[in-house]
Amino acid sequence: MKRMVSGIKPTGELTLGNYIGALRNFVKYQDDYELYVFIANLHCITVPIEPKELRKNLKDAIALYLACGLDPEKCTIFLQSDVYEHAQLGWIMTCMSYMGELGRMTQFKEKTSNATNESISTGLFVYPPLMAADILLYDADYVPVGEDQKQHVELTRDLAQRFNNRYSETFVVPEPLIAKVGARIMSLSDPSKKMSKSEESNKGCIYLLDDLKVARKKIMSAVTDMEGRVNYDKEKQPGVSNLLEIMSSLSGESIDSIVARYEGKGYGEFKKEVADVVCRELEKIQNRYNEILRGSLIKDTLKQGAEKAHHIAFRKLKKVQRKMGIDIF
Ligand code: TYM
Repeated sequence: MKRMVSGIKPTGELTLGNYIGALRNFVKYQDDYELYVFIANLHCITVPIEPKELRKNLKDAIALYLACGLDPEKCTIFLQSDVYEHAQLGWIMTCMSYMGELGRMTQFKEKTSNATNESISTGLFVYPPLMAADILLYDADYVPVGEDQKQHVELTRDLAQRFNNRYSETFVVPEPLIAKVGARIMSLSDPSKKMSKSEESNKGCIYLLDDLKVARKKIMSAVTDMEGRVNYDKEKQPGVSNLLEIMSSLSGESIDSIVARYEGKGYGEFKKEVADVVCRELEKIQNRYNEILRGSLIKDTLKQGAEKAHHIAFRKLKKVQRKMGIDIF
């Protein structure tokens, strides 16, 4: 079985973008791949966050992993900070990376565009080498992610090759796995921007734990255009195309088929069906989430997951230390 690793950084509540671009795919892959999924809590602290809020987000994220259908019997689910090897290989990867390449990361540039060097955390700068470590520790063949993480996975590939060239073959060079539909879900209020948990107003972002009425309202007031026909054209009709991607990825119906069904019909009717599809999915997830919070599944899953992940990560890190000469015996 090929191996897969991926993570989510719950600095806020998980979004429909996280679900369509990542989580839902993890659930599909767990049957055919050896899958390791973690909560990237060390990545969460690259920006200031209240401990109480962070702890709640982490617990919610694990509950949502399980509620969305990840099965701890089929995949390994763990908290990044429970497997100490991530931080050590993260440091090693930091030492393998160059200021220039980290400075070119678009996410770093976006997140720091309005800040001065005095206020940017170095954690934000060395975020990608830690992400490389998350992946390389497990010799992952594939990394299922949304479009926005592609550049980070490409850096991971460069770092793996650099290490292999310098110290001999050690790491598997991973490939990003990006779905054709839904890899970049856009904001409902500004379809030129990614749907994101850090969005200023949350009108454009659907959270997996949104009240269903609120989620429906956000979709019904999604920004569209003056063209007046349901059509997939990301340039001219970004809002409608985004709604088509959301509906197609959740219902499994192709975009062409949805477009054909809506020929001659208006946006109101279309949005209503998108809202029905989204709310049906959210309702299923939320019912399961509430059941999970009441039981002990979260604790058991994390304990078992950390043990399994540690077993692999420990051996890999020892090998790396030996190759680099930072061990003695
Ligand atoms: P994060 O937490 O920003 O996002 C988690 C996953 O959700 C995807 N995603 C989206 N997909 C489609 N449309 C959107 N609007 C959308 N928003 C988010 C992301 O592409 C991602 O797959 N750095 C990572 C976490 C991480 C990681 C890793 C991922 C840390 N170590 C190792 C993979 C492997 C992050 O911040 O993702």
